[in-house]
Amino acid sequence: MRSAFACLFFVGLCLVTGLVPPEFETLPVGAVIPEGWLRDQVFVQANGYSRNIDVDWPDVASSGWLGGWAEGWERFPYYLDGLVGLAVQTNDSELLHKLHTHVEYILSHQTTEGWLGPVKGRGNFGRGYFPEYDFWPQFCILKSMIQYAEAFPEDSRLEPAIKKSLQIISKRLDVHGLEHYDWARHRWGDALLVVQWYYDRHDEEWLLDLANKLQKQGYDWVDHFHNFKWHERVPNMSVCHQPCHGVNNGQSIKIGSLLWRIHNQTSYLDNPKEAMYNLDKYHGMPSGIFSNDELYAGLGPRQGAELCTVVEYMFSLEVSAAISGDKYGSLFGDRIEKLAFNALPSTFDPSMNYHQYVQQVNQVACKVAPKILWSNIGNHANLYGKAPHFGCCTANYHQGWPKFVKHVWMRKQQRVVVVLYAPSSYATIIDGVKVNFKMTTDYPFIDGKVFIQVTSEKNIPIEVMLRIPEWTDGATVTVNQDAPVPAKSNSYHSVKLNTNSRIVLDIPLTIRIQEHEYKNSISIHRGPLLFSLGLQYAKKRIDNCKKGECDDEFDFEITTPQPWNYALAINKNNLQESIKFFTKSIDKIPFSHKSIPVFGVVKGKKIKSWVIDTELQTTAVMPQSPVQSDEQDEELTLVPFGSTNARIAMFPVLE
Ligand SMILES: *[C@@H]1O[C@H](CO)[C@@H](O)[C@H](O)[C@H]1NC(C)=O
Ligand SMILES: *[C@@H]1O[C@H](CO)[C@@H](O)[C@H](O)[C@H]1NC(C)=O
Ligand SMILES: *[C@@H]1O[C@H](CO)[C@@H](O)[C@H](O)[C@H]1NC(C)=O
Ligand SMILES: [Zn+2]
Repeated sequence: MRSAFACLFFVGLCLVTGLVPPEFETLPVGAVIPEGWLRDQVFVQANGYSRNIDVDWPDVASSGWLGGWAEGWERFPYYLDGLVGLAVQTNDSELLHKLHTHVEYILSHQTTEGWLGPVKGRGNFGRGYFPEYDFWPQFCILKSMIQYAEAFPEDSRLEPAIKKSLQIISKRLDVHGLEHYDWARHRWGDALLVVQWYYDRHDEEWLLDLANKLQKQGYDWVDHFHNFKWHERVPNMSVCHQPCHGVNNGQSIKIGSLLWRIHNQTSYLDNPKEAMYNLDKYHGMPSGIFSNDELYAGLGPRQGAELCTVVEYMFSLEVSAAISGDKYGSLFGDRIEKLAFNALPSTFDPSMNYHQYVQQVNQVACKVAPKILWSNIGNHANLYGKAPHFGCCTANYHQGWPKFVKHVWMRKQQRVVVVLYAPSSYATIIDGVKVNFKMTTDYPFIDGKVFIQVTSEKNIPIEVMLRIPEWTDGATVTVNQDAPVPAKSNSYHSVKLNTNSRIVLDIPLTIRIQEHEYKNSISIHRGPLLFSLGLQYAKKRIDNCKKGECDDEFDFEITTPQPWNYALAINKNNLQESIKFFTKSIDKIPFSHKSIPVFGVVKGKKIKSWVIDTELQTTAVMPQSPVQSDEQDEELTLVPFGSTNARIAMFPVLE
């Protein structure tokens, strides 16, 4: 039995643990306070559908988890997983009241054996039942319980409730294990996370046995990502279901990092990086996600990516960023930002009242199509609505922004680490002195200047570690009046200073093109933002299903009257000349087609043969580049992908 000394400074815990300690410690919900545009964004979410879903939408409002008639499986746990952060970070009394009431109900209805929620959950909208003692909803609710326990340490009921839940899980795994529950067998990573969370606080031996049981009975994701064999679009569930299911992948990318804490072998720690590499190579999209509609869908920009997968992928990388620290340079932080600033906002309307089940990189129409483009979902899967298509994303998306906020700052013992860049503040105690950190920035929209003001009552030496993205070039760090110091990209740059100082980090937002294997096409990036030809669009309300038989009453179709079939004229050797960027200011709604903070101008020509595929209601297959065109030169405006609901972001290139 290996032992290591691990300290959790923010909770004032230092303990002996048999697990390898994470390189960076994550902070409890509430420690990071969003400011500036990030605060605006969190309030966009809080004032969007998030606020009313537990009143409006039966699968949360009348959830079996709350004693109601509707779904009693994953939907309520998904929603609660996001609500903890949202309520605490906004400090909104209504949301906090909802949160406490919901947690109260769950705790007071735990069975004497320890089971949380319904033993036998109803299906969506009360249809049918799930098998008894399905582990998956249990794993899922525990994720919100550990956040709640950290946010409200004065509530002494949480740890015992979590322990009892883990005990019954452990017991039931012996009598009726994961092989009987397809979803749980592929989603055991969330249980492993919670087991380790509890073990870091109470190093009881049975928890390691439980971790081993989960690994033995669960699907082998480490092998899946290491010997990745799904190189093509998976056409249907008979070819591959659970292992090729996007959300399961998103959730399981963190498993290697978690297993490293048990086994201390580099092959485990490397696994999330291997997962990212393989998913990018065979299914990667320039918005940071991999195609999954719902199964792996290949490299084409028409294929879909499910919203649940976006937020789960982000969370997995937040876990991996903490556990592996700076061992992989800026890899995890870079990708979390890419997902958060591109794939996440692009799939919502600006008010965050409506979202899609799957989004496309090249999305020119969201309509009910005569033929299905997707591998495993219906022909209306890319409509916008409150619960378009399956309702899992309606419940699960709530975790996206709150968890992003939570992970902006981390700790490495006495050092403070900036993992993600967005305006926020963090107050903590270092060497017994209260220290406040305030980050002010218009990153990633306007420029790459990040100001960090460090204040305290007593002046003490401190150390701050700053993530320097892989894509930048010539970043510098300036402390007070000192000369700027160069900072190496793809690393964490350490700065020693005294409190009551100011750090100015300058991360040039380099302009880059990504050359895609798919049809030799390209995409355009500036800093962490993907740029796209944003299209004006018309919304049409459609009654997609009869009330009560479907996940919601109505959805929106989107069509664009604008031409979109352009190839770009780009000189790869002189991008500054080919693409000019202009900045404005960040609106109260940071991601909206109505107020663009930054845009680029490029030249392009129409490609007449590239039209709408009427059967699929999407673009026809993109022509292979380089392409020729006799059309006239046009000036095109490129806007942040995350601000669009209709766009082209993978382009053919002119000869
Ligand atoms: C993990 O392995 C490394 C390298 O072999 C070793 O230095 C370290 O002490 C181990 N950690 C624990 C907690 O056993
Ligand atoms: C949260 O709101 C309460 C009541 O409105 C207020 O007393 C408290 O100071 C606020 N907390 C923070 C961190 O702003
Ligand atoms: C699934 O796809 C495979 C490979 O294309 C095909 O042979 C099979 O008939 C399909 N099965 C169903 C149920 O559509
Ligand atoms: Zn979903």
